[in-house]
Amino acid sequence: MPIEIIPSILVKTREELVEKIIAVEPYADSVHLDIADGIFVPNITILGFEETETVETDLKIGVHLMVSKPENHIVRWLATPADKFIFHIEATQKAQEIIDTIKEADKLVGIAINPQTPTDSIKPFIDFIDFVHFMTVEPGFYGGEFVESVLDKIADFHYFYPDKPIEVDGGINPETAPKLVKAGASILVAGSYIWESKDVGKAVAELKSVVSG
Ligand code: DX5
Ligand code: ZN
Repeated sequence: MPIEIIPSILVKTREELVEKIIAVEPYADSVHLDIADGIFVPNITILGFEETETVETDLKIGVHLMVSKPENHIVRWLATPADKFIFHIEATQKAQEIIDTIKEADKLVGIAINPQTPTDSIKPFIDFIDFVHFMTVEPGFYGGEFVESVLDKIADFHYFYPDKPIEVDGGINPETAPKLVKAGASILVAGSYIWESKDVGKAVAELKSVVSG
């Protein structure tokens, strides 16, 4: 299976969003837009709705909702061109309702689970989602510490659900990426490794090369 590398964008202004989109456009098919509400995580980003509607790009936009009660946000998001949504199991009691709403709109949905959240918490929903989104850092910021124990969690999940795509978010670099792919991940979301490099295209290419073959 080809491994997908998706740059993540976590910004506080529209200008920063545009800058980052332009920077990765030549090297990616899609981006991962982090949305933080200051409640579910201790950080606040752009709200994202209007920015996603007005930014000019051919990139596909996936939205990572690091927000409390995502059920209150999702209908507004479905009116934007974003085509993939990730919400946290820790943030809602209404997971099935959110999944159904997204699938009725014919868009992709994944559930995110934090490093310390047991995989059992998403068991009832696995058949209804397009992928599982494993967090390998505590959510909220670029540059969090990679939580090594999630590797076993991913491998266990992959053993029991070999056909369910696994996306991983947090601390992806040339050292962690191959370990994650070996454990069963096929989509890797990378932030600081790309943005802190001097050459964005080279950083994306490096991540691709360490997981190919
Ligand atoms: C973490 C965000 C991630 C973040 C990844 O809260 O959900 O998407 O942007 O950044 P790095 O790769 O720096 O851990
Ligand atoms: Zn994210």
